Amino acid sequence: MKTVIEPFRIKSVEPIRMSTRAQRRALMEQAYYNLFGLQSEDVLIDLLTDSGTSAMSARQWAAVMQGDESYAGSPSFARFEAAVRNLMPFKHIIPTHQGRAAEAILFHLVGGAGKVIPSNTHFDTTRGNIEATGAQALDLLIAEGNDPANEHPFKGNMDLARLEALLAAKADQVPCVMITVTNNAGGGQPVSLQNIRAVAALAHRYRKPLIIDGCRFAENAWFIKIREAGQGTRSVVDIVRDMFADADGMTMSAKKDAFANIGGWLALNDDVLAEQARTRLIQTEGFPTYGGLAGRDLEAIAQGLTEIVDEQYLAYRIRTNAYIGERLIALGIPIVRPVGGHAVFVDARGWLPHIKPLAYPGQSLVCALYEFGGVRSCEIGTVMFGLSPDGSERPAPMDLVRLAMPRRVYTQSHADYVVETFAEIAAQREQLTGYRIVQQPRAMRHFTAHFAPLVGH
Ligand code: F0G
Repeated sequence: MKTVIEPFRIKSVEPIRMSTRAQRRALMEQAYYNLFGLQSEDVLIDLLTDSGTSAMSARQWAAVMQGDESYAGSPSFARFEAAVRNLMPFKHIIPTHQGRAAEAILFHLVGGAGKVIPSNTHFDTTRGNIEATGAQALDLLIAEGNDPANEHPFKGNMDLARLEALLAAKADQVPCVMITVTNNAGGGQPVSLQNIRAVAALAHRYRKPLIIDGCRFAENAWFIKIREAGQGTRSVVDIVRDMFADADGMTMSAKKDAFANIGGWLALNDDVLAEQARTRLIQTEGFPTYGGLAGRDLEAIAQGLTEIVDEQYLAYRIRTNAYIGERLIALGIPIVRPVGGHAVFVDARGWLPHIKPLAYPGQSLVCALYEFGGVRSCEIGTVMFGLSPDGSERPAPMDLVRLAMPRRVYTQSHADYVVETFAEIAAQREQLTGYRIVQQPRAMRHFTAHFAPLVGH
């Protein structure tokens, strides 16, 4: 059969509250044109993030009831730890309330002024946590990764030559090397197994640990299976194990590829670092057998980790986004190609060339998608990355709009509706205006900045 069906039935539903375009225009104005300021009930299709928005399975809900809420030594922790270690063979697995808490602990220990931490592309919270310690977060993505039209199969790969140059010149300043799978900020693009291994070998040559940001590890493994030479007949579980075999630790948000609504972990092999991390964990998150989580959350993660590596699920998952991407391409809308794992990334700068990067074409498209169709998306461009720690502003490498697909939540007609919203905007895209920022915090401004439309564009 050619039709890729959702490999599940729906047992519990949530109503969507319908709204009119006029209502949405008013709501958006009240939120200062920042869609993080909306009430989620005022959104028809919420593609703001795939994080924490998964539909849990009946088995996960059943596992929730097994949660043991003991302060210390909960069997829920043992099940969580075993489920993680089944896939990622790290010595120390330290639960946190979400991914950024793992990052905060790690960089509290290894960051600091004068340090440089390279990655393919740091996600915004990773960058934020690194910069908060005074260290520099350096993105060393291959050049193809910054070209939306380039069809390279592993656009999340690290640029090995630039990594080597950095290590040769500044080894003393580099406490660890990171790599993000898939590369969220660069379009949800995968990293090849070959590249992970080469990065690990290079890092180890300079005695640096490799830490993988593994948020979307299963989607990355699926791309390795279908795109990398020699991997097609291997199981996703084996590929996942190989992805982590050469690493020295990981940070993880269980809100992505663990089907959980909350949770994360920091994993490490180094005993000394792990002990320091657990001490910090007790100060900031909780005792090491629960971190910042309830026992029931640990159970949901443990069960979710067995479901996320299901190959039927991954085939459907990757196809969902490819389907939307193909239809947007057919409408002449430039997107990051090939389509990534968890989201379709629209090249707003390419589609709205009349709006200059510092007038935020991504923000303009995000607002239009909400006004026209009640679809909430997320700017990943100059709003998110354009503000330097010194307060100056520069265009980000790309101005993208991310349509992130929650896992197991929306059906094909929801996808069709999103595409139709784009078709409506396409007819009037030259009338879309840019925006200016009227108020912003000093860092991570995309969450809380206030915008105003520019007139006369
Ligand atoms: N790393 C990556 C690659 C991420 O995508 C995220 C979160 C984090 C770390 C932090 O994890 O949210 O559990 O603290 N990304 C979400 C998103 C927020 O919408 O892409 P967290």
